[in-house]
Amino acid sequence: MSIEINAAVAALEAYVPGEQPREPGFVKLNTNESPYPSAPAVVEAVHAAATEAAFNKYPDPASRSLRQTIAESLGVELGQILAGNGSDEVLRLVCHAFLRPGSGDVIGMLDPTYVLYRTLAEMFGSSARTFATVAPDYAIPEAAYDTPVKVFFLANPNPPIGTLYPLEQIERLAADNPARLIVVDEAYVDFSGVGNASISLVERFRNVLVSRTFSKSYSLAGLRVGYIVGRRALIAEMEKIRDSYNLNRVSQAAAEAAFRATEYYADKTRQICEDRAFLTEALRRRGFEVPESRGNFVFARRADAAELYKSLKERKILVRYFSAPNLADGLRITIGTRTEINTLLEGLDALSK
Ligand SMILES: Cc1ncc(COP(=O)(O)O)c(C=O)c1O
Repeated sequence: MSIEINAAVAALEAYVPGEQPREPGFVKLNTNESPYPSAPAVVEAVHAAATEAAFNKYPDPASRSLRQTIAESLGVELGQILAGNGSDEVLRLVCHAFLRPGSGDVIGMLDPTYVLYRTLAEMFGSSARTFATVAPDYAIPEAAYDTPVKVFFLANPNPPIGTLYPLEQIERLAADNPARLIVVDEAYVDFSGVGNASISLVERFRNVLVSRTFSKSYSLAGLRVGYIVGRRALIAEMEKIRDSYNLNRVSQAAAEAAFRATEYYADKTRQICEDRAFLTEALRRRGFEVPESRGNFVFARRADAAELYKSLKERKILVRYFSAPNLADGLRITIGTRTEINTLLEGLDALSK
């Protein structure tokens, strides 16, 4: 007799993450990592945490020191922060804790946005309702405000375009339907210039959660650390279902050191924002339509995007191509170093001759 599978899992189409090439030598502009190395203090903290004597013992199950550091800086309590193995884990915990299997719960999300939200919802027996955002301003459609979904995921800034939605619009999402949880996914917030403004929503609304990651502006994608901020009552439910030791000791130490290395990362973020403006202009001059982005990436539309993606890859320049009909004429390009950007532009020029 064959083993019966959980129906939600059996029906699930697995999420496919961006390509991580196995060969070396790529100019890698496809998964929105930082092109910059970790701060010296992070490398020191990793060495200190990675002694032979440390590995045989479990890490702090509550990531207390890291959470305390973040909590103090944001002006919230320790119990209002849950740390996870990347923000992907904390987003999954949201779905696990708040979607009720078999009850017809639905999540809301923009289109386009980070498509993992749909997969996470489906893992827990829910489905997704999408709200199309369109050029030129990619505004949140009116129908999204009062939709009776259980959880609404809003990436802000929203990939792959990079649109930043103002605080008042998130307030309205939260206020219009208090029974609906609003998850503001701020993976790219450090490139947007709005600082910690959204954290005030957590204080004012019972139904707002804000997630963040160390994978982008803190150059730590390889160590997998993210966190989510919200009312204690919501965070406590998610705490019950996370793995006891979801963050290893090296990741905890590295993330805390990174969080404290404010000047180093502020400088890199400034550079990335400057280079985003440079790349946007350079692409527009080459006939691409590039909406304003507030993330560490741009979305560049040109009719030959699909061929360009392939030809750039042959030259070992990797950008992200999405085959979805509303994105198929564009490339999402991560802001690399100036040298990487110049290599990309030279590649585009050579291919356009
Ligand atoms: C909007 C958004 N949220 C979350 C993530 C995942 O981040 P993490 O590396 O913390 O799991 C990404 C990754 O690209 C993202 O684009």
